[in-house]
Amino acid sequence: AYNEKESLFIALNFAREFFQQNLTTEEGQSIGLSYFKERGFTPAIIEKFQLGYAMDSWDRLLVQARKSGFETGILRKAGLILERENNPDNYYDRFRGRVVFPIHNLSGKTIAFGARILTQDKKQPKYINSPETAIYHKSDVLYGIFQAKQAIRQQDNCYLVEGYTDVISMHLSGVENVAASSGTSLTESQIKLIKRFTDNVTVLYDGDAAGIQASLRGVDLLLEGGLNVKTVVFPDGEDPDSFARKSGAADFRRFIESQAKDFIQFKIDFFTRDAENDPIKKAAAIREVVSSIARIPDPITRSVYARESARLLSMEEDLLLAELNRQLLKTR
Ligand code: CTP
Ligand code: MN
Ligand code: MN
Ligand code: MN
Ligand code: MN
Repeated sequence: AYNEKESLFIALNFAREFFQQNLTTEEGQSIGLSYFKERGFTPAIIEKFQLGYAMDSWDRLLVQARKSGFETGILRKAGLILERENNPDNYYDRFRGRVVFPIHNLSGKTIAFGARILTQDKKQPKYINSPETAIYHKSDVLYGIFQAKQAIRQQDNCYLVEGYTDVISMHLSGVENVAASSGTSLTESQIKLIKRFTDNVTVLYDGDAAGIQASLRGVDLLLEGGLNVKTVVFPDGEDPDSFARKSGAADFRRFIESQAKDFIQFKIDFFTRDAENDPIKKAAAIREVVSSIARIPDPITRSVYARESARLLSMEEDLLLAELNRQLLKTR
């Protein structure tokens, strides 16, 4: 007999294979596969990420899984089916008429799914994701880490992006050291996961207001975790996926290499945008930079960055150090 977690792994693996198989059906080819092709996904990348398709049906997975011997209790605990509100003990598939992105743990086992809608239908969420289960804790996971871990070690850097398709497009562009926070705020356990492979992170969030706000928060969390942090800001409205497709693989790689700035320059640029000579904005920028430096746990690294930022802001180092000490005392 299997314990519950083992049963969940088996059910998710079954669903993952089922969704992959669906891509070979008539519906899967004409809807799912053609969607992936439009996004420039090759058969090899579809295979590498084990992408699939959930049929436009209420219970195709449920029926097939039942036939294969899975009990509804396990399918429900795996997050694959939902109970009908007015009719308990009657279930339907959670993922329907969507392309499917399996989410893998570090050893490559499927632990959850994200599923994207194919139309622009504003009444439905763009992505539907697995709920929390006994084997899936969203806040512990980074999408793509299984496919990236070797490259992260080799490159000694991890690119951090927002979304599933950013990860996949970057692999297509030849950049494999990349993982996604999947659109939520970074957590301590995600940062610990990165630290198993490297101390260096480059944040590549979407080039919109939300993405920049998320970068600012992410930078501080990563610094607190003791990581070295760089950021790339994409043109407004672009994300790594759209930008990679627009510019081509070689130009994309050149862009992220040449545009990666350390967090100090990123914050200075952001807080003094459109107002380089405005003294009030500059003072605010200084305090903002210092507030990030204050989060760095290692005092030597902190002092190196303090010196560097005094230079970049062309201000006296003593003054900046005084502000740093003031903020450090305030938070302890
Ligand atoms: N996300 C989610 N649920 C949503 C919207 C977003 O879980 N309703 C997560 C997904 O992991 C998504 C990430 O947040 O990949 C980033 O969101 P967004 O930038 O809106 O999507 P993209 O990844 O850019 O997807 P696409 O290119 O397909 O539009
Ligand atoms: Mn956990
Ligand atoms: Mn976005
Ligand atoms: Mn995006
Ligand atoms: Mn996108």
